[in-house]
Amino acid sequence: MCGIIGFIGRSIKGKTITDSLKKLEYRGYDSWGVSFLSEGKVEFFKEIGEIKNVPKKIEEINSSLAIGHTRWATHGKISKINAHPHISSDKKISLVHNGIVENFSELKKQVSNNNFSSETDSEVVLRLIEENVNLGLDLLHAVSKAVSVLEGSFALLVFSASEPDKLIAVKKESPLLLGVSSKGIFAASDQIPLSSFTNKFVFLEDGDIAVVKKDSFKCFDFSLNPVEREILEVDSDVTSSGKLKYSHFMLKEIMEQPFVLRQVLSQEKKNFDEISLLLKKHPVFFIGNGTSFNACLFGKEFFSRAAGISSQVIDASEFPYVLEFLPENSLIFALSQSGETADVLDSVRKAKKRNFKIVSMVNVFNSSLVRLSDKTIYLNCGEEIGVASTKAFTSQVALLYLLSNSCAEKFDSALEELKTLSLKMQQVIELNKNSIQELSSKIKEVDDVFFIGRSLNYPVALEAALKLKEISYIHAEAFQAGSLKHGPLALVSDGVPVIVVAPMDKVFSDTLNNAIEAKSRGAFIIGVSNEKNDAFDFFIPLPKVKELLFPLISIIPLQLLAFHTAVFLERNPDRPRNLAKSVTVK
Ligand code: G6P
Repeated sequence: MCGIIGFIGRSIKGKTITDSLKKLEYRGYDSWGVSFLSEGKVEFFKEIGEIKNVPKKIEEINSSLAIGHTRWATHGKISKINAHPHISSDKKISLVHNGIVENFSELKKQVSNNNFSSETDSEVVLRLIEENVNLGLDLLHAVSKAVSVLEGSFALLVFSASEPDKLIAVKKESPLLLGVSSKGIFAASDQIPLSSFTNKFVFLEDGDIAVVKKDSFKCFDFSLNPVEREILEVDSDVTSSGKLKYSHFMLKEIMEQPFVLRQVLSQEKKNFDEISLLLKKHPVFFIGNGTSFNACLFGKEFFSRAAGISSQVIDASEFPYVLEFLPENSLIFALSQSGETADVLDSVRKAKKRNFKIVSMVNVFNSSLVRLSDKTIYLNCGEEIGVASTKAFTSQVALLYLLSNSCAEKFDSALEELKTLSLKMQQVIELNKNSIQELSSKIKEVDDVFFIGRSLNYPVALEAALKLKEISYIHAEAFQAGSLKHGPLALVSDGVPVIVVAPMDKVFSDTLNNAIEAKSRGAFIIGVSNEKNDAFDFFIPLPKVKELLFPLISIIPLQLLAFHTAVFLERNPDRPRNLAKSVTVK
């Protein structure tokens, strides 16, 4: 997965492009590059690593046509040569690509000029376009002919020095939108880098080719039949940007959860009513990946407890293998912060072929998942930049609680409960923000951390373990507390931290017994509860809330624990190694 950006309009500085590209780095950040049309020539620059120390020459270049790319390597190692943009042999055409061209090896053999400089699938696309131009086609026809033979997913931006009045944008199964501003027209993988220029967006559809000029655009299908795409005005209130006073986006996103919850709750009741009706009529299967998968586990619990609706949870990467065994008339409930996760999109596309209903819960406006869905609930939690999801998770869990209650005709009372909960979230931050740093300074020294919980506290343990391992790189695992004695207890030795998620609920005493079993084998017990207990060697206090709502507050100190441990270990929590915010490959 990668981020791409493009611009055509009045002359702007190179810095405008590199600064905007930086806002896409959460999509991939192993290398980057930009190219500009300047004085009739294509100027380009590529670098490995983050976008920093941009040469003055690039920042100060004046250009009215530019593209940029920030890469997360899939085909070809991390190198300057494999970084985008790719430039044609005659140095006239420049291209950036997000996605994967699945048939690139076969296509590579068909290109006559096989003097490839990179190992990427993207360069093959450029060579095909170049070949078509050399045969006498104009850029639009050359692109259309090239993309019609591509298999896979691709968002492309292409320009040519020979046709300086246009930028060509192509979309198939990778995100791409246009932003219409007073400076000119931008194209980007999402609206985040464009929100400081405009709130007017054109969401391209799969199979679109857009010819973008400085003050107009036209859209076509791959056979160049015209298609209409409207300009949508987006409410920009929910898109906050910048880290404000915080050192990292992740910390900001953890700390703003109490406030964000209020914003998340401004939902249209009618949408909830309509979705509730669907959920009562169909067999329900939740799908998601990573943190969104963990949120799905709460969906299943809430639906059965609050509304008597039974459902199943399937990891989206496994879903295609079970699809054929699902009943007719199923409903797929897909959770995704980005709405662009490839495993989720692939599953949903396959489910649609069986005519299943698709309901989604998504944060990013009009993302691919939204467009594939019959109904969507937006998280409305604002941009989430930190790769490790935090506020999107609590927003998902809160909205699943609201929805399950809506199914039981209790929308209004659940809404009130959640509004009050935002105060408790603030309280849990105040109670723990200093002591968690002390705990993190101990955790940073260990090799393994175990999290245990029963019932609703088990998915909290799973999510807490995921947070710790993804940003601190410490081995962290979650177990159902009762399963500890069936194997994992063998891993417990002197001093091993066992974090016990055990608020005072129906399963408290059983969980405590499991904690004591671990303690008697030398474990250092960290209790997350609203009730102190002698078994706890370290106590993470929680305020008292309704049983079903504990997960929304018990996860917060554990997010902080992961954050501070990563910082102590000098690991950047916003950009963990090998991971990206939005995984757009299967
Ligand atoms: C990646 C990210 C995770 C995220 C998962 C699902 O693996 O690193 O933080 O939870 O994708 O993302 P989604 O946007 O579908 O919720």
